[in-house]
Amino acid sequence: MSKGLAQQGREQWKSRTGFMLAAMGSAIGLGNIWKFPYITGEYGGAAFIIVYLICIALIGIPIMLAEFAIGRNTQKDAVGSFQELTPGKPWFITGIFGVISAFLILSFYGVVAGWALSYTTKAMSGDLLAIPPDKLGDHFGGFIGTSLGPILWQLLFMAIVIVIVVKGIKEGIEKWNKILMPALGVLLLILVVRGLTLPGSSEGVAFLFSPDFSALTGEAILVALGHAFFSLSLGMGTMITYGSYVPKNINLPTAATGVSLADTGFALVAGLAIFPALFAFGMDPGAGPGLIFITLPAVFDLMPFGQFFSVLFFLLISVAALTSAISILEVPVAYFMRKFEWTRKKATWILGTIIFLFGIPSSLSLGAWSGFTIFGKGFFDAVDFLASYILLPLGGLLTALFVGWAIGKKKAEEIGGLAAGGFVNKLWIVTLRFIAPVLILIVLLSSTGLLDVILKAIGLKG
Ligand code: PHE
Repeated sequence: MSKGLAQQGREQWKSRTGFMLAAMGSAIGLGNIWKFPYITGEYGGAAFIIVYLICIALIGIPIMLAEFAIGRNTQKDAVGSFQELTPGKPWFITGIFGVISAFLILSFYGVVAGWALSYTTKAMSGDLLAIPPDKLGDHFGGFIGTSLGPILWQLLFMAIVIVIVVKGIKEGIEKWNKILMPALGVLLLILVVRGLTLPGSSEGVAFLFSPDFSALTGEAILVALGHAFFSLSLGMGTMITYGSYVPKNINLPTAATGVSLADTGFALVAGLAIFPALFAFGMDPGAGPGLIFITLPAVFDLMPFGQFFSVLFFLLISVAALTSAISILEVPVAYFMRKFEWTRKKATWILGTIIFLFGIPSSLSLGAWSGFTIFGKGFFDAVDFLASYILLPLGGLLTALFVGWAIGKKKAEEIGGLAAGGFVNKLWIVTLRFIAPVLILIVLLSSTGLLDVILKAIGLKG
């Protein structure tokens, strides 16, 4: 097949709504309902949220637009798009990093999503609420520390992801997002109303919205930035890949802003569903990754119609995880389909299986293999840290530099879909050239400990 023909036969979204829902489906996921609440709880609430919002506005939205623009302009996958815009240059390595990040992230993402599936069935059967609240921690620890159980749930989750991605853009990804995303909105709405109408919930609202800046540490800022990338699905070519299926007539700036606002709004509203309920029942918001699996079931236990709400909640997480996982798998699938001319079916099954297998050590590291550590972290945490807090910001940094500098100013001003010569267009380019790279670099250097080394070397720190 000639290149032109292959290009003509490439898949596209059926509708604008379909694309928007798919991109929102990618962004809204475990990041919003599992990670955001527990890191907000750990890093002190409202002050952390403000830093997070600044990261979204200053870095997230401009980079999301950059990713959509790269994808739509080239109609290529995460690696091919860089090659198309700068042939013969090493920029495509950014895309390779993206494919690697996708492998890493989906491997542990599938593990947590498997827990959510398992907890959904436990909630349905009534087993979950039959556990005394003070035993919920042991129960969760026992469950994720078992060797076989969590892996089977992860397998089930990955199988669902594969079956949807095999069906392709229109009939698989778009169709399922159109069904699942509205369902997700309804589920969340019911849970928020429940949380906010509990007596004593106002303390939780205050925790989310009245900032105490003294609680803000350097580490908190790193986590906020890393989480902005994770939550908006940026820095690994997801939005490049989804953008590559976008028809020419869709307005990208509106899409990037809309998806970012929806994702942020969803995280805040999920916080409003969770924290008021935690405070209403006197639970600790800083419980860490087990927050929604240990602390929340205790809350459901105490709440009228708790079983009903617990089922809705774990269903919410499972569905949100599914629409995100689909987008992660699509990154390597699109790449392998073009690069090695694999069929969608072959690429999806093979890559999905490898990612599942790679998730097994993550799962085992919470139990049988907990003695094995990398830089003091268990396998699960090491993979999460490397991918979410190093590779994604690095990918975002390279993407910003790519559009800001490498493709030429004229091209950059053209592909974003912002008014030619307009102020916003100039602001976007300046952000990609200077503001985002500098901020990301500072955060990356401090997270890897390199900042300390440099500051000491130039005598700014003792
Ligand atoms: N954004 C997703 C979430 O918040 C996770 C994700 C990360 C998806 C990176 C795609 C790429 O859960």
